[in-house]
Amino acid sequence: FDAATVRSALLGWFAAQGRDLPWRLTGQDGRRDPYRVWVAEVLLQQTQVVRGRVYYERFLTAFPTVQALAAAPQEAVLKAWEGCGYYARARNLHRAAGAMTERGIPTDYGGWLALPGVGPYTAAAVASLAFGEAKAVLDGNVRRVLSRLYAVSQPTDLWAQQAADALLDPDQPGGWNEAVMDLGATVCIPKAPRCGGCPISSHCLAFATGEPGRYPAPKVR
Ligand code: ADE
Repeated sequence: FDAATVRSALLGWFAAQGRDLPWRLTGQDGRRDPYRVWVAEVLLQQTQVVRGRVYYERFLTAFPTVQALAAAPQEAVLKAWEGCGYYARARNLHRAAGAMTERGIPTDYGGWLALPGVGPYTAAAVASLAFGEAKAVLDGNVRRVLSRLYAVSQPTDLWAQQAADALLDPDQPGGWNEAVMDLGATVCIPKAPRCGGCPISSHCLAFATGEPGRYPAPKVR
C-alpha cells in the first residue's frame, strides 16, 4: 500500500477520535513541554492510561517544572510516585532532573537517550512529541498494529523498528506516534479488534485474512 494514504487516514481519525489526554496540552506557542511529555511517557510505560492520568496530575502538581523536581528531596519524589510502582522510575526521574538543571534540557533524541532511565522508547517519544524529530516509538501497542497491518505473525524487534521507522509520517512524527498508540489502545486491541471502527482496515493484511485477532501470534516459550 501507499504509506501516504495510510498516514492521512490514520491522522484524520486521530484528529477526530484521538483521546483527550492531559499530557497532550500544548502551550501558548503550540508546543508541548518536554518535561511534561517525559513524565507522562515514563509513567505510561507500566501504568495504564486511565490510572496514569490521575498519577500524572498529582506528580505535575507536586513538581510542575524540571527545576522543582530536581530541587525536591528524594523522599518527596517517591511519595508523589506512590501507587505507580517501579520506584526505580521515580529515582531516575529525580536523577535525570538534576542532570538537566546542570546541563539544560536536551532537545534531540541522542541527548535524551543519554539521561538516566531514558531508553529508546522514551527518547523517541519526547523527541517526536515535544521537538518534532522524526523518531518512531515502538511499544506493545505499536508492535501489534504493525504485526496486523503487514500480517507478520512473529515480528522481531528489528523488523518492528524498521516497519515503524518506514511508516512514520516525517511531517508529523509526534502526531503519528500518538495516533498509532491510540489506535492500538482503543481499536486494534489484543483480543477481538474493532476493525469496524478502524480507519486503515482497508489497508490491513491481517484484516484481509478474516482473522486479524490471530496477529501477532502468542509467544511460544
Ligand atoms: N501510551 C504511552 N504514551 C502514550 C501517549 N502519548 N498517548 C497515548 N498512549 C500512550
